[in-house]
Amino acid sequence: MANDFAQRLITWQRQHGRHNLPWQVRNPYCIWLSEIMLQQTQVATVLDYYPRFLARFPNVKQLAQASQDEVLQLWAGLGYYSRARNLHIAAQQIVHDFGGQFPQTRVQLEQLKGVGRSTAAAISAFAFHQRETILDGNVKRVICRVFALSGSLKDRAFEQHLWQFAQNLLPEKPKDIPAYIQGLMDLGATICKRSKPLCNACPMNDICQAKAQKLIDELPRKNAPTPIKTLTLFWAIIRRKDGAIFVHKRPQKGIWAGLYCVPCFEQLSELNQFCQTHQLPENGEEQAPFTHRLTHRLLEIIAFEYHVTQDFRLPESEWIMYHHQQSPLGLPKPLQQYLSQTNPKKAK
Ligand code: ADE
Repeated sequence: MANDFAQRLITWQRQHGRHNLPWQVRNPYCIWLSEIMLQQTQVATVLDYYPRFLARFPNVKQLAQASQDEVLQLWAGLGYYSRARNLHIAAQQIVHDFGGQFPQTRVQLEQLKGVGRSTAAAISAFAFHQRETILDGNVKRVICRVFALSGSLKDRAFEQHLWQFAQNLLPEKPKDIPAYIQGLMDLGATICKRSKPLCNACPMNDICQAKAQKLIDELPRKNAPTPIKTLTLFWAIIRRKDGAIFVHKRPQKGIWAGLYCVPCFEQLSELNQFCQTHQLPENGEEQAPFTHRLTHRLLEIIAFEYHVTQDFRLPESEWIMYHHQQSPLGLPKPLQQYLSQTNPKKAK
């Protein structure tokens, strides 16, 4: 499926992607300039500034020789001025440290002021057909969705995993790299949008795991999944001959607030204490544990069955008799399920 992803993306980009953008040329200086301008700025705005900047500074040497004031003047209105200051410094780095020759590898490009891994990858891919993946926010979204990766974007280890994952998706042939990288950008910007993505027009529609699993709106995740704690609960199912059991209304706060439940304890010792106090038969029948998932907790429930006579009473007034087949009461879901299994409806 990985290669399928690359091939689909390349084919789609050639047919439906963005072409004829002025920086789609094989000139590292032009590509670098456009990538820096596009970092926090819309394509439409860059289309306005880019030609003016290039007309005044047509190559890296002329940019390096300019005064900072003039560079900032041409940048005025684009915002995020550290980009312009860094661009100017990086031009001087290229002239002085690289003999005026643009570095070609992603690792060398990352030495330039203001050039991070993704921008370095874009320049090396577009200008030198190097097999380097980009990974900006749009690309993370595309990959997390197509492959249903559910890690959090705030998790550094997951980010590292994504870089490796994205790197493994690259097409084999260097000549395909520019269409592939542009395809990643185009798909994220125009189809696999954060909200209301245009799945029907997406080349990954039928292989997209998030789509298949109805997770489009959930992915990519931004928060680390809350660790699920397991809580063990012990239930006393006190059953009369006629099948009625004892339940009470739970407090208004906490788990199953206000619902009706059997005696329920977090410690086995508390259950035993309850049994002693209420003179329940010793050795209730321990049932197989079962689990129930709440939003932030996994419950492990161990029920003990106590068979009592028809005239058995619990002294406190809170306890009421409950006949599962008869009166509807608000019960916690796992209790409802438990009672349905241990007390199946009689066939009519
Ligand atoms: N955003 C960042 N780089 C881009 C590019 N080369 N084309 C279109 N949008 C981009």
